[in-house]
Amino acid sequence: MAAFHSLFVVCLGVAVLGRVAEGVVGGTPLEPGQWPFLVSLHFKPDHPFTNKTRQRHLCTGTLIRPQWVLTAGHCFDGEEWDGLQKKSNWIVMIGEHNQYKNEGTEQRMRIRKVFRHQNYTARPLLQDLTLLKLKRPAVLSTHVQPIALDTEGRCSEVGANVSVAGWGQIAYRPLGWSMYIPLRVNITVIEQDRCSRGYAAVPDDDPDKAFYAPEEDSVICAGSPSGGRDACLGDSGGPLACYYDNEWHEGAVVSTGYNCGKAEYPGLYTKLSSYLDWIEHTIARH
Ligand SMILES: *[C@@H]1O[C@H](CO)[C@@H](O)[C@H](O)[C@H]1NC(C)=O
Ligand SMILES: *[C@@H]1O[C@H](CO)[C@@H](O)[C@H](O)[C@H]1NC(C)=O
Ligand SMILES: *[C@@H]1O[C@H](CO)[C@@H](O)[C@H](O)[C@H]1NC(C)=O
Ligand SMILES: *[C@@H]1O[C@H](CO)[C@@H](O)[C@H](O)[C@H]1NC(C)=O
Repeated sequence: MAAFHSLFVVCLGVAVLGRVAEGVVGGTPLEPGQWPFLVSLHFKPDHPFTNKTRQRHLCTGTLIRPQWVLTAGHCFDGEEWDGLQKKSNWIVMIGEHNQYKNEGTEQRMRIRKVFRHQNYTARPLLQDLTLLKLKRPAVLSTHVQPIALDTEGRCSEVGANVSVAGWGQIAYRPLGWSMYIPLRVNITVIEQDRCSRGYAAVPDDDPDKAFYAPEEDSVICAGSPSGGRDACLGDSGGPLACYYDNEWHEGAVVSTGYNCGKAEYPGLYTKLSSYLDWIEHTIARH
């Protein structure tokens, strides 16, 4: 159980709740439609996380084509929690903002087919990607738009200014709640050497240690030098994006991390520039 929770590690935002209420250091709420590519994945059966948060939201994702959603591989890992692998257990909420309200912009979608990366592994978490083909294309609007992929790899350069968003927790509380509106936070891409040195400090007897591979080429580390800005539980699958040519580009997908918002343990992300062919081929063939 503990191991499973650590798969959904990423706290957007801050170490203390008060800061979010004040709208200061960590994440700030997105306005409705501000990131119209953001998708909330609702899991229908009982799950310890959704049980505790009292929301159906379990993972974040992005609309990358009208009929395709990109999210994390571990969100569909039925070996970690039985049922995750089953498409009928999920509802894809597009145009979602406030989880408690019906705002008229939401499109509830069912999944036609789940394509988890063929070489996905949980220990360590690698190739942590899933593509979802929806039963029908989303109807595009001001609140529903696909995001461009960062085909130039600009979001993954060390020092790049990037943003991450999701409905995840604002502090690491495996037994706590998650946010009902999405938060976004600005972070930077961190050198992998530094990131690996930080992760080396995770105690060897911590079962979560097996998830982390910050040294891998297909992984990006991102955070803030002083900590306090990060993704957290429930943000898994969400976008790390950077802004250029007048639009947002998704460069990586929220994967994992040790605790949330600690300077020594930046968030770990799946770098999309390593998987552009897989994404294009999967979409083209189906
Ligand atoms: C969720 O909560 C219900 C009611 O308290 C309980 O019966 C169930 O076992 C819980 N499920 C999980 C997966 O935690
Ligand atoms: C998975 O790994 C195998 C062995 O390394 C490789 O041949 C194959 O191309 C990989 N699959 C994908 C989709 O990358
Ligand atoms: C990121 O933003 C900082 C502060 O605005 C700036 O100094 C830096 O040059 C930016 N980095 C890149 C790679 O654009
Ligand atoms: C985060 O970065 C974006 C894009 O550079 C910028 O528009 C926004 O104002 C920044 N937000 C904060 C809170 O610094």
